[in-house]
Amino acid sequence: MNIKNKLFLAPMAGVNDIPFRLLCKKYGADVVMTEMISVNALSRNNQATLRLAETVKEEKPIGIQLFGTRLDAYKKSVELIENNFDFIDINFGCPATKVIKQGAGSALLKRPAKIKELVEFLVSNSKKPISGKIRTASNKEDSLKTASMLEEGGASFVIVHGRTTGQGYSGNVNYEHIKYIKENLQIPVVGNGDIKDKVSLEKMKSTNADAFMIGRAAIGNPMVFTEVKKGKETSLDKKIKVLYEYWDLSKKLNRQDFNKLKFLSLAVMKGFNQAARYREKLSLAKNFDEWDKVMSLLQM
Ligand SMILES: Cc1cc2nc3c(=O)[nH]c(=O)nc-3n(C[C@H](O)[C@H](O)[C@H](O)COP(=O)(O)O)c2cc1C
Repeated sequence: MNIKNKLFLAPMAGVNDIPFRLLCKKYGADVVMTEMISVNALSRNNQATLRLAETVKEEKPIGIQLFGTRLDAYKKSVELIENNFDFIDINFGCPATKVIKQGAGSALLKRPAKIKELVEFLVSNSKKPISGKIRTASNKEDSLKTASMLEEGGASFVIVHGRTTGQGYSGNVNYEHIKYIKENLQIPVVGNGDIKDKVSLEKMKSTNADAFMIGRAAIGNPMVFTEVKKGKETSLDKKIKVLYEYWDLSKKLNRQDFNKLKFLSLAVMKGFNQAARYREKLSLAKNFDEWDKVMSLLQM
């Protein structure tokens, strides 16, 4: 996979369903990813989890992100899913308690040898490129150590969210650490954290990362991928049209989830006159018709 200068959609639990990924693709994402998927659940053939791992060919290239620690569960999961994906990513950054409790996600950042073992295992048990998504540490050397484990294990690239586990999703992105990792690795580096417009993309570019990943800024605004390329903002009207597009696609794909539509719409209700009032109205909507009524008020 050549990822040079590509824009990735970040894996986001509860957000990255097929219709959302298709829209990100349509509006400029070069590579999309699933949300993180448990190898324990996948390897047990859990139906809801198998549904999370479904994909359609129009999304390609697409990566699946897996989390867990058990090698047998990774092996079974890879057998189930690898034909549908272009690469397989391992989650080494999730700070959620339920993930950390099982020793997975960012808990693995404390176990460099285990990171290498997991990557090596997947590299030898899959035909597809393997990557890992990590967070930075409190000092540069430790950030590099984690990234080096991926390289030594045979990963094709590394995705770096420039925040520590303790930072969660707030506080400054540590561009210096991403730059340091890039300087010291042979494999490509994908820079992630707070990219939302042309200026923030330029900041991330100062790390010399090979490719770039956008998460939260795409929620409610899949056009962000075009915005960061062209430096142009999307109008509220267009954002609302894309929400309708999301719902139409969800219907076509038999994946309607009204709460998801509401969640995406709430993200749009900011930065304009009376946005808070519309957010309040929207949060009371119980079905599509009620949602549609609120939206129509905004489009007059
Ligand atoms: C709602 C939400 C869900 C997320 N789920 C995942 C996930 O499943 N796997 C993962 O590696 N990171 C996950 N993240 C982190 C993002 O992939 C990304 O690293 C982080 O949001 C920083 O990028 P951003 O500033 O562009 O949002 C999630 C973030 C959010 C906001």
